[in-house]
Amino acid sequence: MYDSYGREVNYLRLSVTDLCDLRCVYCMPEEGVEKRLHEDMLRVEEMERIVRAAASLGITKVRITGGEPLVRRGIEEIVRRVSAVPGIRETCLTTNGQQLAEKAEALKACGLDRVNVSLDALNPALYEELTRGGSLKYTLEGIRAAIACGLTPVKINCVVLNGVNDGEIEKIALLTQSAHIHVRFLELMPIGESADWQADRQLKAEHVFRRIGRMNYEGETGNAQVWRIDGYPGTVSLIRPLSRSFCARCNRIRVTPDGFLKSCLHAAAEIPLRGLSDAQLIEAIKQGIAGKPRRHRLAEDGCSACSRRMVAIGG
Ligand code: 5AD
Ligand code: SF4
Repeated sequence: MYDSYGREVNYLRLSVTDLCDLRCVYCMPEEGVEKRLHEDMLRVEEMERIVRAAASLGITKVRITGGEPLVRRGIEEIVRRVSAVPGIRETCLTTNGQQLAEKAEALKACGLDRVNVSLDALNPALYEELTRGGSLKYTLEGIRAAIACGLTPVKINCVVLNGVNDGEIEKIALLTQSAHIHVRFLELMPIGESADWQADRQLKAEHVFRRIGRMNYEGETGNAQVWRIDGYPGTVSLIRPLSRSFCARCNRIRVTPDGFLKSCLHAAAEIPLRGLSDAQLIEAIKQGIAGKPRRHRLAEDGCSACSRRMVAIGG
């Protein structure tokens, strides 16, 4: 289905929990978020019906997000049901990797195609500091397990905070020496915890280039600019929602863990999806796609229109 600006919307991001086993400094408050009532959250059957309705409108790709999706009980069953919906050609999941080593194989068996793994540092102490207690070792084991069972290519997401982890850029980019790994450097978005962080933390392409030599430009995909290090099989991308907004090519809608449709990460508008019949679900999703805003106004207004934290929307 096309939205009112002629963008084809074929990608659904389904957030299955707002809980997380880490507390990354730019995402979660130190004390965590209040646990919501179980009955306020979408059940597996509801997720499946939402995905079915979305698929009937042309959604072909689903990404399962959180919070941290691997902390949700029954995640394997969610993957199994979502990936089996007719019309869904690709089911992916974004994880911090802490529990990926144990779950990779089962997820693959349930129909998962690929994973994106968040990794902001390769220095164990810095990783622990940025995630407030995470173990780099577990995440690296998770990446290895994902590659071993074919959840590939693994995309590594690294949020760059200038002056904090920019010294890690080169080491992380060198992971693309593996044919199974692509690396994406993300610009920090001013949302939730990082809403009023300084603009000087912003990722600039020049910063990345200063750190990695020998990069050849490959072109642009939906939301990223892509390079490759000479002779390496994996790609290195920059995703810069602020300094190089990709709204004009945005193809996505989002469902929150408590069952609201958001057609833009940065808009306050939410459409409730719970308690609807199948026909009503299709109508609600149509309405969401039709009302998708042309672009975000982060650069002008900050996140004044963002009604939720990132963990409650799904990155
Ligand atoms: N800006 C940019 N990326 C963010 N993520 C979480 N919060 C932010 C933010 N404020 C990233 C995570 C993860 C992905 C789901 O979103 O690091 O890689
Ligand atoms: Fe699309 Fe909104 Fe994201 Fe822009 S901010 S790319 S309009 S979802």
